[in-house]
Amino acid sequence: MTNFTNRTDNSERILDQLEAGLPVGELPASLYGSKEIYEREKRNVFGRCWVFLAHESEIPAKGDYVLRKVGEDNFVVVRDEQGEINVLFDACRHRGVQICRADSGNTSHFRCPYHGWTYDTKGNLIGAPLWKNAFGGMDKSSNGLAGAAKVGSKHGLIFATLDPTAPSLDDYLGGMGWYLDLVFGLNEHGVEVLGAPQRFVIDANWKSGADNFSGDDYHLGTLHKSVWEIGAFPVSFQDNMMGYHIQASPGHSLSFSMAPNDDEPGPKFFGYPERVAETFTSERISEDQLNVARRSRVFVGNVFPNFSILALPMTEDGANFPPTAVLTIRTWQPVSEGKVEIWNWFCAYKNMTEEEKQRSYRAGLGTFSMGGSFEMDDTEPWITVARTGRSTAAEVLDFKLNYQMGMPGIGIGHPVDDWAGPGKAFWTRYEEGVQRNLFKFYLGMMKAEPGQWPALTFDED
Ligand code: FES
Ligand SMILES: [Fe+2]
Repeated sequence: MTNFTNRTDNSERILDQLEAGLPVGELPASLYGSKEIYEREKRNVFGRCWVFLAHESEIPAKGDYVLRKVGEDNFVVVRDEQGEINVLFDACRHRGVQICRADSGNTSHFRCPYHGWTYDTKGNLIGAPLWKNAFGGMDKSSNGLAGAAKVGSKHGLIFATLDPTAPSLDDYLGGMGWYLDLVFGLNEHGVEVLGAPQRFVIDANWKSGADNFSGDDYHLGTLHKSVWEIGAFPVSFQDNMMGYHIQASPGHSLSFSMAPNDDEPGPKFFGYPERVAETFTSERISEDQLNVARRSRVFVGNVFPNFSILALPMTEDGANFPPTAVLTIRTWQPVSEGKVEIWNWFCAYKNMTEEEKQRSYRAGLGTFSMGGSFEMDDTEPWITVARTGRSTAAEVLDFKLNYQMGMPGIGIGHPVDDWAGPGKAFWTRYEEGVQRNLFKFYLGMMKAEPGQWPALTFDED
């Protein structure tokens, strides 16, 4: 029997395969290359979920703005005269012309280049040329820019959703909020981004990034073997595989490399300099959160759908410098089923010295950036995942990918019940439940009717 038929929409068939395959750890390869799946993702995932847009430190002053994406669409993230953050669809109400022509800047208004309609930083229509003759009597207030349905922020991370039926940001993040606290909220200063984001396009599917940052630690020993050879990372591969995989809540997954106890030598608090680590206290977070952060060498995680976070000790030059903490946040910005634009920001705690920030930034550039050693390793295989995903062979053969690591009876990864934080925890990072969690929620979103939401907690599940 063959699957090679003239289907007009393959997405339903591929999602049915995903639904049947998830419980046994098998995913249809076409998920990573199907055009129909991608079209459905734009509507059902990016058109509905909370997506990350910017960090508040990128727009500190009134009138500051950056141009960002929700799915493929441009949105202006702007701080208005009252200091509120607005997320405005970058399209003039008159004919839909793009009104914002710069990546970032400061302005009191946006003026459309076509006929000159002018909007304030809240998106209100405030004027147009020859107003009296052209539009005198028309209601200005109902002709402002369209905005995201909801905007929210946590630790300065700005998210928005286009769906008015979306849960609150806190409910959407669920257990993931606890983990964001212990990465971004370790002291009262919080973090800031260092410069503008790097952007680069690769011929891969956006889900490869989300899948990898949900906790694919297994690839480190093969794909990134050279990183150990040049001494860029201070923990051996085997020790680094010790730690927890966490399904924080449906869709959101993460992974910790963790020292077995507090006395273990090696980096603490992801490698932050001791002077900075001394300012990390349980004033704003719990003792449990602080203890987890103290023992952590690496944190890597993904907020569904496409926002990833990585904190780890890295060095720009193993021969001359000890490793220091690198904190990168990134989005896997979809461009098509076979292209993703990676947006990559480096962050630092605000109370780090300029020199400490520069070292962290340079170590990040050398490892997780367009020309970084880790990044270049990662992107090449992802390009071939997308090629497999769009292949005729994957469709005709019903080619399945294996996601079985850590399932009962497979490998040493196993659930633990004494984990201090929210979610489902597994010991040792030889485990792929984190990815199955990502794809289960993904399936729920892809199959949901408008207004319907898949379970946001494991209790409802
Ligand atoms: S399209 Fe913007 S003013 Fe006409
Ligand atoms: Fe990697």
